[in-house]
Amino acid sequence: MRHVLRSQQFDRELLTNQLFPAADRIRSAFDSPAERSALRTSLQGRILLNQFFEASTRTRFSFEFAAINLGMTVLNTENAKVFSSFVKGESLEDGIRILCSYRPDVIVIRHDETGAVERAAGASNVPIVNAGDGKGQHPTQALLDLYTMQRELGTIDGLHVVIGGDLANGRTVRSLACSLSKFKDVHITFVAPSLLRVGEDIKEHLREQGVSFEETEDLKTALSQADVVYWTRIQKERITDPTLYEKVKDAYSIGKEEMSWMKPKSILMHPLPRVGEIKEECDEDPRAAYFRQAENGLFIRMAVLQWLFDAIPA
Ligand code: NCD
Repeated sequence: MRHVLRSQQFDRELLTNQLFPAADRIRSAFDSPAERSALRTSLQGRILLNQFFEASTRTRFSFEFAAINLGMTVLNTENAKVFSSFVKGESLEDGIRILCSYRPDVIVIRHDETGAVERAAGASNVPIVNAGDGKGQHPTQALLDLYTMQRELGTIDGLHVVIGGDLANGRTVRSLACSLSKFKDVHITFVAPSLLRVGEDIKEHLREQGVSFEETEDLKTALSQADVVYWTRIQKERITDPTLYEKVKDAYSIGKEEMSWMKPKSILMHPLPRVGEIKEECDEDPRAAYFRQAENGLFIRMAVLQWLFDAIPA
């Protein structure tokens, strides 16, 4: 049985030889009515349960669309914190045990507590997918991020990736940094206000994996060297000290001027939602890849679901 818990569980071979080609095939199947209906039989009869304890638009809907497009049946708890027995004090583990007894084939969980999804996996006898756990990980986001780099730039090896924003609290940057370490000669520049610097555990992971990285607050130099600029939102809901939030909320914002520092062949990514850190004036620039990136989430999540059930076509 497979779970999806951390981005680093996906090695390079699985990514580039299985998941990315599967996502490419799925994308093109959408252009052919016959292939699209064939896709709808791929995981027919299986049930996906989405259990979201925290807000989501892209992740929940893309899993839902992914499952439906593979012929699965989907059940949803959108606001599990309020609408499940969790509110009565039931433990996550008990909740999962009960849900498993109703025979879902896979449970996708988003939770506000770091490590909660791994705990859920410990109580589950069906595959669990981590759709984001607190300040922990968001592995399927990292997969769609890498897939976007591969599609847009043709390779991940050798890229200079600038990762910026709230690096202390953002889980997408953690998952991305861990999975970039699977590729060769990647260089990472972290750009963050001093109060929101990337965690020591991530830096330790990169050192162990031999990934070169640096930290800076100098946006202009970083952007001018980047192949990929990966920007993120200040995670207001995870910053408990309101004075800290006030200090950092407008830390960096990317507009046309900042994009003019970027190389012509680079791309600007963001896991979304954006709340001012990438201005709308950037959208018309062809290097702005964030909406294409979000779309890629559908194809890669379909590939991940196929992989979970060993159903990637040969
Ligand atoms: C991210 C998340 O939930 O971690 N959103 C997403 O899934 N695309 C990013 C964020 O909320 O800032």
